[in-house]
Amino acid sequence: MKHEIVITGQGHKGTLERLQQEFAAIKLWEAADRAAALKQAAPRVRGLAHFGHGRVDGKLMDALPKLEIVSNFGVGVDAIDLEAAKKRGVTVTNTPNVLNECVADCAVALVLNTLRKFPQSEAWLRSGQWATRGAYPLTTSLGGKTLGILGLGRIGEAIAKRAQAFGMKIRYHNRSKKNVSYAYDADAVALARNSDVLLVITPGGAGTAKLVNAKVLDALGPQGYLVNVARGSVVEEPVLLRYLQEKRIAGAGLDVYENEPKVPPEFYALDNAVLFPHVASATVETRKAMGDLQVENLHLHFAGKPVKTPVV
Ligand code: NAP
Ligand code: 8YV
Repeated sequence: MKHEIVITGQGHKGTLERLQQEFAAIKLWEAADRAAALKQAAPRVRGLAHFGHGRVDGKLMDALPKLEIVSNFGVGVDAIDLEAAKKRGVTVTNTPNVLNECVADCAVALVLNTLRKFPQSEAWLRSGQWATRGAYPLTTSLGGKTLGILGLGRIGEAIAKRAQAFGMKIRYHNRSKKNVSYAYDADAVALARNSDVLLVITPGGAGTAKLVNAKVLDALGPQGYLVNVARGSVVEEPVLLRYLQEKRIAGAGLDVYENEPKVPPEFYALDNAVLFPHVASATVETRKAMGDLQVENLHLHFAGKPVKTPVV
């Protein structure tokens, strides 16, 4: 007998196929009547596989009273109400570590592209301007610059290693100081003041909402760059847009936005921003590893064993 689970939304193709082969899966996003689908599933469903950024809240958990586990595809669990899960004794799992290297590669690519403006210089060539207007304007080097990492966790440490290989100096801010050789700043403002590039890789959610605001951007200053690979919620997006338009910071590299996949169109017009569509973990290898871990956590739970990567 296969265990019954609910899948919340469209996700990684190979993982969706595995989930449907290995479990009796109810595809919630395909249900014509979501409430009726949940009502029908309620007496039997003990597991939920979550994809994307739709909320998994207490209301959804209450609609599935037998629910024991929410297995998330992704390390960030800001879409899941962890307090509601704790209260109901629901285990939540995520997919840490398997994505560190790819996300760090993407973060460094954003630093490189934001400072060196490679996408803009390529557009210069493609639009014929190299031939008509001459060489692309000079940009700025990474070597010797200070990278301030806001959120020196699993991914932050992988970013620091790479940035050092580019000749960058590393500082960081976390709520608690770590046993590392990098310089520590007591808050985000001090980190921004002491950095040429402020790179955000904290979790999302209420604890970090709008942590990067006007005060932080003022401290970063007109020569400073912001890179965000964490969550759009960590940065006050309208303020960032204004600071880029008014050149109150030098530039920004973004992989994440407040209301994905909607990006305020004013960003498209900026020459001092490099914009990626939330692709930091988006490789064949990493997405498969994330899916395998999501599925493994469900199997372990249903076998009565400890899950591999619990959050609560
Ligand atoms: P992690 O190992 O838990 O690291 C998070 C770090 O942030 C910790 O060092 C933590 O230190 C710090 N932090 C938490 N709250 C903070 C606050 N209020 N102020 C300052 N620092 C704070 O997590 P990870 O595995 O590196 O992942 C980090 C996040 O990256 C994920 O949660 C996710 O949102 C994002 N992410 C994005 C992508 C993408 O595709 N763009 C891919 C993967 C992950 P303290 O607890 O000491 O503060
Ligand atoms: C994915 C992520 O883009 O792991 C995370 O927290 O943001 C990314 O790896 C996302 O989970 C896929 O929906």
